[in-house]
Order: sequence, then structure tokens, then C-alpha cells
Amino acid sequence: MGCTFAKTSKSGSAQDLNHAGEAPGAPPAQDPRIPLTVRQKFSISKSWKAIARAMDQTGVAMFVKLFEENKELLALFEKFKHLESREAQEESEELKEHAVSVMNSLDEAINSLENVDQCIDYLHSVGKRHRKINGFKSEYFWKMEDPFLAAVKETLEDRYTENMESIYKTTIHFIIQTVIDGFEGTQQKNSA
Ligand code: HEM
Repeated sequence: MGCTFAKTSKSGSAQDLNHAGEAPGAPPAQDPRIPLTVRQKFSISKSWKAIARAMDQTGVAMFVKLFEENKELLALFEKFKHLESREAQEESEELKEHAVSVMNSLDEAINSLENVDQCIDYLHSVGKRHRKINGFKSEYFWKMEDPFLAAVKETLEDRYTENMESIYKTTIHFIIQTVIDGFEGTQQKNSA
């Protein structure tokens, strides 16, 4: 009896747990809003450096693929809706500028995965900014998923392993869902 009590008071009682409910010395709990392990976050931030060095190329490839698969989306872009051929899109400064701005927003999100509130708030704001686009529908965001993965694969070549593919899939899924939450205004406030 006494022994059980001593054991409980030593390492198992509520007062021995830190504020996050973990045992002392345990690794910090993962924020459940980010669907990546510590290791996966480390892998993507390392891998993303190669993408960050090739933003133009990756971004343009992503948009060219987006329009290849969804011709109707081109009409939403005032600045380059007239660019119907793949070649014209690949050479367009306007398209490149927009592609880099979208890639920069993905860069911002991926670099802030450790600051969960900041990352989510930022992605909500990106989503919200699409509300002012005439004719835009939230389901369009998912159309970027495959072009993003294909463009990343093209840039990374043999560094795009099966493991990295699975991490990029989880990450873009999280990013798009969070952007959609911001667009639709369904997000919870942080303080809640
Ligand atoms: C995860 C996916 C996406 C991200 C991160 C993203 C990000 C951005 C960013 C950063 C801008 C700059 C505008 C601003 O800051 O106000 C923008 C504008 C825009 N986005 Fe997206 N976007 C995404 C998906 C899409 C998709 C799939 C479409 C497809 C139709 C789209 C259509 C547009 C349009 C039409 C604009 C306005 C362009 C202009 O300045 O004329 N976006 N987006």
C-alpha cells in the first residue's frame, strides 16, 4: 500500500505533469492542427530549400500544369487570360510574377510550420484574399494539389523519394484545407 502511494506521488501524480499534460522529460506534444511529425517537418523544411532556390521554375511549371488540366481557370486571371498556348504561358513575365507570389505564400506557410498559430492565420488570410476574385469558387483550390506535387517532383528529381512525396502530399493537403477555411470564413479564432 505504502509502496503504491510512494510510487504514485513520485512520478505518476497530476502535479508531476507539466502544463501540457506530459511527463517530465517527454518530447513536447505535437500540435494536432499540423498533421506532420517533428521528423517530417524537419524533412520538408530541408527539402523545401531546393524549391526555394527554384521558385520561378517550380511556380511556372505548377501554373502551366494547372491550366493544362483546367483550361477554364485561365479566364479568372485578367493579366494573362489571353495566353492560351503552353509556350506563351511559359514565357510570360506576368504569369511568372503571379506564380512566384503564390510560391512565396507557400514558402511562408512551410517556413512557419513550427509557429502553428502564425502559419494558420497566414493561410486563412491568403484564402480570404480570394473572396474578391469574381467567379472564384472554393473548390478551385483543390485543383492546385496535383500541379503542385508534379512541379515539386520535377524540380527535386531523384530527391523526390516516396517518403518525401507522402510528406508533400500531407503538407499541401493541410495548406489547401486551411486556405479554404479562410476563404469560407469557417475558421475558429485562436483564442477560442
Ligand atoms: C494553395 C493554393 C493557392 C495559393 C497559396 C494562392 C495564393 C495566392 C496569392 C498569394 C495571390 C496574390 C493576391 C493577393 O495577395 O491578394 C493570389 C491571387 C490570385 N489567385 Fe490564388 N492561390 C492559390 C490557389 C489558386 C487557384 C487554384 C486559383 C485558380 C483559379 C487561384 C486564383 C487566383 C487569382 C485569379 C488571383 C488574382 C490574380 C490577380 O492579381 O489578378 N488561386 N493567390
